[in-house]
Amino acid sequence: MSSDARATLAIIGGSGFYDFFGDDATTVEVETPYGAPSAPITIGQVEGRSVAFLPRHGRKHEYSPHTVPYRANMWALRTLGVRRVFGPCAVGSLRADWGPGTVAVPDQLVDRTSGRAQTFYDAGGVHVSFADPYCDELRSAAIASLGTELPSRDHGTMVVVEGPRFSTRAESRWFAGQGWELVNMTGHPEAVLARELEMCYSAIALVTDLDAGLESGEGVSAADVFAEFERNLVPFKALVRRAVAAVDGDDTCDKCRVLTGTGVQLPFE
Ligand code: ADE
Repeated sequence: MSSDARATLAIIGGSGFYDFFGDDATTVEVETPYGAPSAPITIGQVEGRSVAFLPRHGRKHEYSPHTVPYRANMWALRTLGVRRVFGPCAVGSLRADWGPGTVAVPDQLVDRTSGRAQTFYDAGGVHVSFADPYCDELRSAAIASLGTELPSRDHGTMVVVEGPRFSTRAESRWFAGQGWELVNMTGHPEAVLARELEMCYSAIALVTDLDAGLESGEGVSAADVFAEFERNLVPFKALVRRAVAAVDGDDTCDKCRVLTGTGVQLPFE
């Protein structure tokens, strides 16, 4: 453990993504006004860059999507100097032609969660722009890293459901009918909390299943989701590593500095 470990880029790993560096990393325990993050944060090296890694669901999957301490996670990363965050995640597909094993870099999200704390600014008067929920620069780095090992898509609308249950067939058909491609349980409020702290953020989604509206059998099972994620974990991790290496610069991009110049005092400055 080290108290002076710093990183400007972070990865928040999703289901099945509990470790990024093996033993070759420094572990940092961080406390925040919102409690402890999901797990101690590890800081290791990727292509000569210090990178922070945080397993979203805890080291042993202690946190369900609706109990993840999202605010503590984003705050903790920011205290370590992080300005740019990749959020790899498992997703269901709402399109038969985006099958399991496909990697997508979403460009839009739809929030169907309920009751999650989604702001650091409870006092009022702060309304960040969120029309484009993901950072253009990080999305470009992710898209440039897609490679050929896994089928891929350079866009997608991700609908985020409250969970922890999967969707009914009717819900799933409704989502698909809207033209949305992906469904997941953790994509919100992570992206907006990053925006509120002026951190660039991009999801990188790995399809683990065809959602209930597309399947003829029993619908989605957690066991299938985990097994499919595990099956593609090696190429998926390699892709995320390439995305990290492709990021240019260490600071928030101009477009994601949504509060600068508005008179709002960021909690860290
Ligand atoms: N995560 C992985 N697959 C999912 C699905 N089908 N629905 C919601 N979240 C998911």
